[in-house]
Amino acid sequence: MVNEDKIQALIDKTAEAELGGGQDRIDVQHKKGKWTARERLHQLLDEGSFEEIDKFVLHHATDFGMDKKKFPGDGVVTGYGRINGRQVYVFAQDFTILGGSLSLAVSQKICKVMDLARRNGAPLIGLNDSGGARIQEGITSLAGYGDIFMRNVLGSGVIPQISAIMGPCAGGAVYSPALTDFVFMVEKTSYMFITGPQVIKSVTHEEVTLEKLGGALTHNATSGVAHFAGKDDQTVLAMIRELLSFLPQNYQEKPPCVEPTDDPERTDIELREVVPENARQPYNIRMIIDSVVDNRHFFEVQARHAQNIIVGFARLNGHPVGIVANQPSFLAGCLDINASIKGARFVRFCDCFNIPLITFCDVPGFLPGTAQEYGGIIKHGAKLIYAYCEAVVPKITVITRKAYGGAYIVMSSKHLWGDINYAYPTAEIAVMGPDGAVNVVFKREIGAAEDPAKKEAEMVEEYRSVFATPYRAAERGYVDEIILPEQTRPKLIRALESLKNKQERMPMKKHDNLPL
Ligand code: HXC
Repeated sequence: MVNEDKIQALIDKTAEAELGGGQDRIDVQHKKGKWTARERLHQLLDEGSFEEIDKFVLHHATDFGMDKKKFPGDGVVTGYGRINGRQVYVFAQDFTILGGSLSLAVSQKICKVMDLARRNGAPLIGLNDSGGARIQEGITSLAGYGDIFMRNVLGSGVIPQISAIMGPCAGGAVYSPALTDFVFMVEKTSYMFITGPQVIKSVTHEEVTLEKLGGALTHNATSGVAHFAGKDDQTVLAMIRELLSFLPQNYQEKPPCVEPTDDPERTDIELREVVPENARQPYNIRMIIDSVVDNRHFFEVQARHAQNIIVGFARLNGHPVGIVANQPSFLAGCLDINASIKGARFVRFCDCFNIPLITFCDVPGFLPGTAQEYGGIIKHGAKLIYAYCEAVVPKITVITRKAYGGAYIVMSSKHLWGDINYAYPTAEIAVMGPDGAVNVVFKREIGAAEDPAKKEAEMVEEYRSVFATPYRAAERGYVDEIILPEQTRPKLIRALESLKNKQERMPMKKHDNLPL
């Protein structure tokens, strides 16, 4: 039959395309502990759901002998598939083809799936493993990056965009992941930087290893560029699947509910013991978070960065929620520059995608010091205020202990239109902590006293009994209810249920002007 040749040709061409840069390159990739682009996509997506597009796209460069270096599909695999039955669009850079470098053709393939994702209201996942702009193509590959950045911004707040760094990601190429909502990195095999160790050495004479400069730990713990790290490709791909289970497909949908398997009325008497009697004593806020969320399962975001604030996803009676919590066991839970930025970005993400916010507040204030002031804590702290003010999703707050000064207002207080605000009986809501307050207000009395230390202790005790309680706030309606700690879970679930039809909109405007 005449068609048989044509069918065989398609089969052969497909097999050739699916071999990427060839078996030798695949072997090198495997030796580095990395999977190929197609192996990654098959692991990421539901079994058998991957539909590849643009498999036979070629680059059109001719300079530097590039007309003889053509591979079907060029340096990226693109298409769509399903994760837990839900549609997603994907691209995976193929390092086996010219180091996954970005040609104009590669960028056009990526832009095509980005457009499909946005138009069809489904998440976009990009797996990055590339030597950056294809050097032989010059300006056209730079144009390609620009086209991608433009689409990252068009899709921002419309669909969730997720990036995984699974190899090199250098130079301006880092900015596409940075424009997306979440960045995952694979430990030891991935790195991100604007300029590599060699350039740094020649310009600043600093010596730094690849790993220390831009490895997964650096970006998860120090810079905060990345949100998650996994020990290998498989772990990272599984983490992406889990993250998506908390997210809606796009900004017009609600996040997906699951059938709850944890009693919504479950109380936990041990919560009475979590907040220590001594206000100076730290405790781990995770004990409260873990206790109240469904099945004690909390999916933490940026766990290693700015650990004085905890953010992440969980479910309450099957409904996804975003949790923000001060962490008293790290920097006493103070808000500093990094914590403000981390918290603000998370709050804004949740608001974009209709994920209600649960805030646990135990904050002694903003971190004092010249490093913070010179670093711009004023403008960075303002980001967190801004984010909570503009968030129109249901906002529920629990003040477990300290809520002092500006930091009290920031943490989803009534004044920033928190919907339901609870306090534990251990809450202390005041302009500042007792020690600082009495030394400002009663400085003279203390100085004139026969025994200043005794006087100071008396004044601190008096201040504490008058102001360092939740009752003054409750008298004004600034907290809606003072609750028993063991009832936190049922209270949160009922509050969430009561807010499920919340309708609130910010005024129409061109766009806001978040303090950057
Ligand atoms: C063309 C590239 C390439 C690139 C790698 N290759 N990067 N080809 N353009 N940018 C090719 C290599 O020539 C090689 O081909 C193959 O990919 C594998 O690369 P190796 O160097 O053998 O791999 P490895 O030893 O693992 O090193 C990986 C690497 C290195 C660290 C990424 O290749 C590298 O330094 N590449 C250049 C990185 C870079 O400076 N990119 C430009 C960044 S600036 P052959 O056929 O010889 O095996 C940028 C601007 C973007 O991207 C601006 C956006 C606004």
